[in-house]
Amino acid sequence: SSSLVSADVVEYTFEVGNVTVTRLCNERVIAAVNGSLPGPTINVQEGDTLVVHAVNKSPYNLTLHWHGIFQLMSQWADGPEYVTQCPILPGGKYTYRFNVTAQEGTLWWHAHSSFLRAWVYGALIIRPRLGHSYPFSTPYQEVPIVLGEWWDSNVMEVEEEAVQFGGAPNISDAYTINGLPGPLYNCSQNQTFQVEVQQGETYLLRIINAALNEHLFFKIARHTFTVVAVDATYTNPYHTDIIVVAPGQTVDALLTANQTVGSFFMAATPYQTRTATPDAPLPDTTTTGIVVYNGSTSTTPLMPTLPAHNDTQTANNFYLNITGLEGGPHWVPVPEVVDEHMFITVGLGLDSCNLPNDTCRGPNNFRLSASMNNESFVLPVGRGFSMLDAFYQNATNGVYTRDFPDEPPFVFDYTDSSLNISLGFAPRSTKVKTLKFNSTVQIVFQNTAILSAENHPMHIHGFNFHILAQGTGNYNASRDESKFNLKDPQIRNTVAVPFAGWAVIRFQANNPGVWLVHCHIDDHLTWGLSMAFEVENGPTPETTLPPPPADLPTQC
Ligand code: C2O
Repeated sequence: SSSLVSADVVEYTFEVGNVTVTRLCNERVIAAVNGSLPGPTINVQEGDTLVVHAVNKSPYNLTLHWHGIFQLMSQWADGPEYVTQCPILPGGKYTYRFNVTAQEGTLWWHAHSSFLRAWVYGALIIRPRLGHSYPFSTPYQEVPIVLGEWWDSNVMEVEEEAVQFGGAPNISDAYTINGLPGPLYNCSQNQTFQVEVQQGETYLLRIINAALNEHLFFKIARHTFTVVAVDATYTNPYHTDIIVVAPGQTVDALLTANQTVGSFFMAATPYQTRTATPDAPLPDTTTTGIVVYNGSTSTTPLMPTLPAHNDTQTANNFYLNITGLEGGPHWVPVPEVVDEHMFITVGLGLDSCNLPNDTCRGPNNFRLSASMNNESFVLPVGRGFSMLDAFYQNATNGVYTRDFPDEPPFVFDYTDSSLNISLGFAPRSTKVKTLKFNSTVQIVFQNTAILSAENHPMHIHGFNFHILAQGTGNYNASRDESKFNLKDPQIRNTVAVPFAGWAVIRFQANNPGVWLVHCHIDDHLTWGLSMAFEVENGPTPETTLPPPPADLPTQC
């Protein structure tokens, strides 16, 4: 065998522990990986084996998720707490080990336990293996741009508020670029991400939205981008002056330094379509970093013109115009025959308040909740098994049931306001949809836009999917099937289901195990906007869930 193309084992140790950081003038104790915020950037080549030794020295339960990695036959390394593993308890450790194959570009990793991902996250960059190259000219340099969200408080308490009181959105105190808020925030002049560029050179920006709750617009003054990949799948080159990125998504974009000397702000600001109320003000702050041309004397950077926070037209344009690089590296054609059709409503609702009336902060003293097909998902905490372990041991009783519905319990229709009531009080459950090994699933995600009119970035663990079409209003098969792009649709792991609209996706269930599906807005996730697929074992030992690693945490 040729040693020139042999794959490597790439090894990291992630020690998660308390560290004191200062942001917005205040010192805060946070849990972070190896003392840094964001955590370390992981660099691998396609085909490598990645080994991460997670050591939990924090006071919190911990799991790590490799967002967008297929985990083909390494299911026990996926990470969502109570789904594929029990938490790594304080003082515990677990080694994540998996192959990174059949995908290239920018992914990321984050804690998948409570709101811990506000502090525990970083980039995961997959470059072509030796002897292979990008399907675009080699950039002069690559720049990870990890967008985050900062709370001037303990994020565990912020989550507790969301869960207990179901209150108005917990608006963070700042957005950040590579952990830094930038000069538009208090005391942050010296906490500004800066990148130096050479005039005439082209840079590959690897943009990740690691924010907990907000979609973001991203711009750089006087510069344009060429999008070349999303969610670690190559796209046809798409020219734009603005990038839209939902929580969970990534965008790889080329930036040519084609201005004369000077300095320019890069800026990220929320895209948010819901209406402000006194209880739920809109997030309206902006994080900035600086692009400075080599040799420039310090000047005040130029600020880009940002769209309005509710500029749906701009957001939709971006999402609708991206197509997949048909025939490019790791291209997967759209599976033609659909075995399972699902229609899934995604949206918010209400739940009764178990606290004295005046302590729940949702509308009319209820708490907010969220559901898929009118089922509000609850993790099987305290049942003794993770869902994957229950599947492996054939002991699912008391852990989950197999009756997640293929459709909502009524025909969804925007024009029927009585549906707001029926969707209002979804029962809490832990239901999965069972799929035959290798079956092809098509899902229409219908955004109900009840109570909160906003996009829901739906993420599926374990699989990429083709986005066949998206649109506004009620999905209507006889009208909308004609819009399906079956030739070169974008391939993603997270689709921003548009506000008051729908998106249709298709994927092949080629990996046995239990795979979480959820809204990547963490508020919505804690309220139950989640379900899971249980993919049956295939016919051979190579397509059967392997036994768990010996060090897998077992206290659920
Ligand atoms: Cu990026 Cu279930 O996560």
